[in-house]
Amino acid sequence: MFNHSVYWIVIYSPSFIILQSLVNVKPSFFLIFYSLSALYLLDIKHRLQTKYKYTMKLIILSNRLPVKIEKDENGEFTVSPSEGGLATGLGSLETEAEKIWIGWPGIFTDDEDEKKEITEHLNKHNFYPVFLSEEQIELYYEGYSNSTMWPLCHYFYSYIDYRAEYWTAYQEVNKLFAEAAFPLFNDEDIIWVQDYQLMLLPALIREQNKVVSIGYFHHIPFPSYELFRVLPKREAVLNGLLGADLIGFHTHDYMRHFISAIYRVLQLESSLDEIQLSDRVVHVDTFPMGINYEHYHDAALKPEVQEKVTELRKNMGNYPIILSVDRLDYSKGILHRLIGFSQFLENHPEYLSKVSLVMIVVPSRDQVDMYADLKVKIDEMIGNINGQYSDLGWTPVHYFYRSFDFDELIAMYHTADIALVSPLRDGMNLVAKEYIATKHSNPGVLILSEMAGAAIELTDAIIINPNDTEEIENSIYEALTMDEDEKMRRLKRMQKRISTQTVKKWAGDFVGELESIKNQNVNINKKIITQNKLSFIKKDYEKANSRLIFLDYDGTLSAFVKNPEDAKPTERTLELIKNLVSDSKNKVVINSGRNHDILDKWFEGIDLDLAAEHGAFYKSDGKWIQNMKQKPVWDDEILDIIQRTIDKTPRSELEIKQTALVWHYRNSDIWLAEMREKQLVNELMGPVARHNLQIMRGNKIVEIKSPDYNKGSEVKRLLKMDTYEFVMAIGDDTTDDDMFRALPEHGISIKVGDFSAAAQYRLPWQDEVVPFLEGLIK
Ligand code: UDP
Ligand code: G6P
Repeated sequence: MFNHSVYWIVIYSPSFIILQSLVNVKPSFFLIFYSLSALYLLDIKHRLQTKYKYTMKLIILSNRLPVKIEKDENGEFTVSPSEGGLATGLGSLETEAEKIWIGWPGIFTDDEDEKKEITEHLNKHNFYPVFLSEEQIELYYEGYSNSTMWPLCHYFYSYIDYRAEYWTAYQEVNKLFAEAAFPLFNDEDIIWVQDYQLMLLPALIREQNKVVSIGYFHHIPFPSYELFRVLPKREAVLNGLLGADLIGFHTHDYMRHFISAIYRVLQLESSLDEIQLSDRVVHVDTFPMGINYEHYHDAALKPEVQEKVTELRKNMGNYPIILSVDRLDYSKGILHRLIGFSQFLENHPEYLSKVSLVMIVVPSRDQVDMYADLKVKIDEMIGNINGQYSDLGWTPVHYFYRSFDFDELIAMYHTADIALVSPLRDGMNLVAKEYIATKHSNPGVLILSEMAGAAIELTDAIIINPNDTEEIENSIYEALTMDEDEKMRRLKRMQKRISTQTVKKWAGDFVGELESIKNQNVNINKKIITQNKLSFIKKDYEKANSRLIFLDYDGTLSAFVKNPEDAKPTERTLELIKNLVSDSKNKVVINSGRNHDILDKWFEGIDLDLAAEHGAFYKSDGKWIQNMKQKPVWDDEILDIIQRTIDKTPRSELEIKQTALVWHYRNSDIWLAEMREKQLVNELMGPVARHNLQIMRGNKIVEIKSPDYNKGSEVKRLLKMDTYEFVMAIGDDTTDDDMFRALPEHGISIKVGDFSAAAQYRLPWQDEVVPFLEGLIK
């Protein structure tokens, strides 16, 4: 079935040398990417192997494999490179045995023998196909991926088509990818999930394996929250991504939008680039993808490319050539570009017959309606322009609806006087970088859309708003009339940038950061109380004849709820507390920020110690004692400031305790509340200092209290009165860190929820606290 006549040569890539003997490969420039790829990850691999002293595998998962298999008219399979920036960029990475690539082979077959045959051939090169049914291609690939997620991420709101069956298929196919990956990796390997077709995959893999390093890279824009929020099942998509340890974007804007979505949709806070989950942190960062610069730069001088350059010049005459290269995609702004060019011809008749636009459109996703419609519109518009302006010796738009091989494309880039890259939205756009790289003594001018990720780096291009066809028109004129020295100056600066920010650096930076997060998460997880650690603590507990146990209330013994009055202890919790205090060796203290009335009410009839209002009061022998020199005093100014904040922050409220004022914002919009919190603290600073008060920030609260006490005060007080063989404190808030710090050296501190440097152990979830204590006293 596989045709053995092959005619391409790849020098460096062993996998492709083997591949050539198996398949009939179309000659194409893409293959060269793979040939140099071996060089790319070598240093990453070396670094990892030196460090871990074993052969680590890099498992790449992308919707498409970097090669696609097609059946030709003779019924024979042919293999050719896949299109698009992901495949050309990532395809530049190493193809050694340790790299495993899992993806769709680009073909539909339900013949099991054919599947087996394709699998066997691909496996030899460490490619692992995930076969999709025709229905899955329609619903997952054309549907959810390219009719829902693609238009959403590219701000084509009205193109978004969401259907329940798309979502079902998307989940199903992401699971298929996870199942394909499971048998192929070990804990030490690195899993790198690529792009928007597989956003659920990181969590699906994480469910099965808690320790393996998982990275995710988003090759397309991430939209602002206002757009992202329209997506049904947005929580599931974000939770899917959070299975990764590192989530990468091309630009800081996409990163910012993602963090804002996480914050608003999942109410998860991040500190700078770190999202705190209960059991680990997830890093978010930018990694602008580059190209294999030298490969493009050097290729332009190859004799076979130069031959093509000469031929091209001969055919096109000596007039300037404007080049555009894109996949067929509405996000690429092809129609706006044609309008801009047509306006240019109309308003600059002196250029008629003197400049041509060479437009390469590579076929893509043409089964999706919006793409098929676009193709018709492009054909029509080019027909109109050529019909209106052509003369016998000149065609304004040379249009190619096909892909080109590498040498041809390099010759085009090298020859073109101007590259017009005007996507309406584009994650990065590698074409812009490739164009710049092929230039030598003949500088060209890059006109680049500010909506492409590449515009952040290529600031020496003529930057345009691609929606403004007048700007396109003017930029063409500016490029055509630009002084040669200026062109060269700009080119050199851009070449300097892209020759250092290469695809090799991109991958190296990503994998390097993934490694360091793994270490960070290992340390965070070290504190988690495992069965083993529980038995150590239990041993100490059982050995001790006197024990002092401090328990925070909200977020520790009880989960947070919308209405604080509803957070009363459950029967199970009360039972536990009773059991704890029934042991005469135990002194148990509920050390809470709550007021004493409510603590009395909730724990009525149980003989235990209570400390209220963050240590302002303690209860001893059934009597509440005030633990401060003098009661704090606040005035109307302070109350007014808080009231103004409440007026501007819906669903926030003031609690007036005997010794403190507390502004609560748990139920408010998280972004607004955090901004207000900063403003409030700022405004309160002066008045609070004048009254010798202290501002304390807690979990969704700001408290104004006396500086004389905190949650550590009660710990210190009790420790001064007696000695205990076993001392333990459990709490979830930053305010509980004071309690941890006040413990004696042998004290056991347990942080509930996020990691805290002040605590020795962690229980990641509040609902683990009661079972932990039950286990301790059992
Ligand atoms: N390209 C291609 N076939 C061609 C011409 C170009 O595959 O006939 C390549 C081009 O060299 C570039 C990639 O397709 O590497 C397009 O990547 P880009 O980031 O510009 O856009 P994307 O397709 O990822 O949206
Ligand atoms: C963009 C996407 C890639 C995709 C490529 C080609 O570069 O980011 O994920 O592979 O376009 O699209 P296709 O649908 O043909 O895979």
